[in-house]
Amino acid sequence: MSDFTGPEQYQNLFDPKAYLDDYYRLEGDCMGDEYLRFSLKHLAQIYSSGKVKGETLIDIGSGPTIYPLLSACEVYKNIICTDFTDRNREELKAWLTNQPGSFDWSPVVKLVCQLEGDKVPWTEKEDHLRRTIKQVLKCDILESNPTDPVVLPQADGLISFLCFEAACKDQPAYVSALNNITTLLKPGGYLVLSGVLGNTYYMVGKVKFSGILLTEDFIKEALRGAGYTIVSFERSDTTEESFQDKSNFNALYLVLAQKKCTGLKGGSD
Ligand SMILES: C[S@@+](CC[C@H](N)C(=O)[O-])C[C@H]1O[C@@H](n2cnc3c(N)ncnc32)[C@H](O)[C@@H]1O
Repeated sequence: MSDFTGPEQYQNLFDPKAYLDDYYRLEGDCMGDEYLRFSLKHLAQIYSSGKVKGETLIDIGSGPTIYPLLSACEVYKNIICTDFTDRNREELKAWLTNQPGSFDWSPVVKLVCQLEGDKVPWTEKEDHLRRTIKQVLKCDILESNPTDPVVLPQADGLISFLCFEAACKDQPAYVSALNNITTLLKPGGYLVLSGVLGNTYYMVGKVKFSGILLTEDFIKEALRGAGYTIVSFERSDTTEESFQDKSNFNALYLVLAQKKCTGLKGGSD
């Protein structure tokens, strides 16, 4: 029997509240702390460069989270969040409408404000992000139109964090999913893709979810094959053993890639 946890397991077993508590409390004992600090720092740099911006950004596989969008909302006018599971989309909508009991992202929002040089008060940024997220859609990256039955116009930017390694059963499926989401991006638009390397599982509460083992070379090759130029590839190797009960990654990565304008696939950077 395969250990792969596919769409059905996500729909039935992925508990958004447990996931947020396990990974996004921004406390020293929380595994997500390392990932948040790494990714938010690089996102603040990318979106303050002035190069990456536009009308619309689509977040692929948002889960119940908003952290990758806190710097992005300063440079995109509209953001569309997406995820496969009903419960994740409901949790996200609960935060968007400020419902009691929704996750407290304020420590993360404050950190992003700090990284951006405290230009706006954190409450203002939070409100601004809430106003910028215009839709929360169902998506399946394994489908040729991931937002089917909705047909979206091509966006200026895509962002996807920790989704591909979770959703794809093997490397060919990853390549195919990357091609699927690339149809949602305008030529010349930017993709920010981030996740973990060397990982084969992660825990959400007491449930184990599979991950596919990724390497830097494989990701770069997959991006080039899908028609991107790699602008930057950041990685942070970890020697941390203490989170092995949650996940077994050995590095974090964040890549900025630009979809080529020619429509031609392949080629070098
Ligand atoms: C590890 S979580 C990452 C969530 C969030 N992006 C983050 O950074 O924490 C993996 C996400 O992938 C979503 N997912 C799983 N299979 C998917 C699929 N076929 N298409 C789209 N999303 C999927 C899950 O519902 C889950 O929210």
